[in-house]
Amino acid sequence: MNKKPNLAIVGATGLVGSTFLKVLEERDFPFDNLYMMASAKSAGSTVTFKGKEYVVEELTEHSFDKPIDIALFSAGGSTSEKYAPIAAAHGCIVVDNSSAWRMNEEVPLIVPEVNPEDVSWNKGIIANPNCSTIQAVVPLKPLHEKYKIKRVIYSTYQAVSGSGLKGINDLKEGLKGNDIMKAYPHPIAGNCLPHIDVFLENGYTKEEMKMINETHKILGDDSIAVTATTVRVPVFDSHSESINVEFEKPFEIEDVKTLLANYPGIVVQDDPANNVYPLARDAAGKNEVFVGRIRRDFSVENGINMWVVADNIRKGAATNAVQIAEKLIK
Ligand code: A2P
Repeated sequence: MNKKPNLAIVGATGLVGSTFLKVLEERDFPFDNLYMMASAKSAGSTVTFKGKEYVVEELTEHSFDKPIDIALFSAGGSTSEKYAPIAAAHGCIVVDNSSAWRMNEEVPLIVPEVNPEDVSWNKGIIANPNCSTIQAVVPLKPLHEKYKIKRVIYSTYQAVSGSGLKGINDLKEGLKGNDIMKAYPHPIAGNCLPHIDVFLENGYTKEEMKMINETHKILGDDSIAVTATTVRVPVFDSHSESINVEFEKPFEIEDVKTLLANYPGIVVQDDPANNVYPLARDAAGKNEVFVGRIRRDFSVENGINMWVVADNIRKGAATNAVQIAEKLIK
């Protein structure tokens, strides 16, 4: 792209949408015109970006009649299903944060530290992966390249911000003793819910299957055995994950630590003697993936355990989408 792109933010009034704006501003993303879009409910309201007020317009079938080069979507799956193809047909490239397009064979699913080259085969829609998958595949990528991963076991501890404002409110109220349950079927305060998204016939939740399928697609290797248990915990921001990995090749644990520490987008925090390891509260508001508790799994021949934490709204959603947009304008 030679000129500065025209941008649209679809879902500009939402939690991820407003974080798109924060990240675009922090990274000084170049743009010519900027359009804020949301549902009819928000039409006419204003959103501030770089000190300027923008009027939110209702997303309609005609929203992309004007020239828009890149649209960042976070307005739910059904909105993406309907409007992303309309935008693409008008020559716009959509970076979509919903799960609607992720497993479509015509749609690249991208984590810029892992498979940026997949941007080249987009046909107008690029999918942003699930939040818990993004932070997992960043450390898995260099390990897979060097030691070839045989099997991965994910156990997640996911923040309520992943359920939007409803989830945050359920926890806030729960901490005050009001067990409201707008986001979850059980109280979240004082609880761990082994239930994220809906249950499927195979006994897994949709969130667990997203982690499994998206890991295969992003790493481009269906031969890796992957299983997952995803759990919602009473934490406001940042997902934490225990990741157990088994390799085909032998390794030195110090080499694993060095490999991860030198990889873009990763910060290793691993000094247990001084109580240093990644923490959800420390990761909140940051763009990197934090990795610690890196240790050998003595129960198998070539295995490790690690603890991986990232801000689910930033690297797990908005930051990753903006990084994809940065690849598009390069
Ligand atoms: P609105 O605020 O007008 O409802 P969150 O994930 O935080 O709930 O935010 C969802 C975002 O998606 C909001 O900006 C919301 O706009 C937007 N949205 C939801 N449904 C639609 C729709 N049918 N068309 C356009 N935007 C939508």
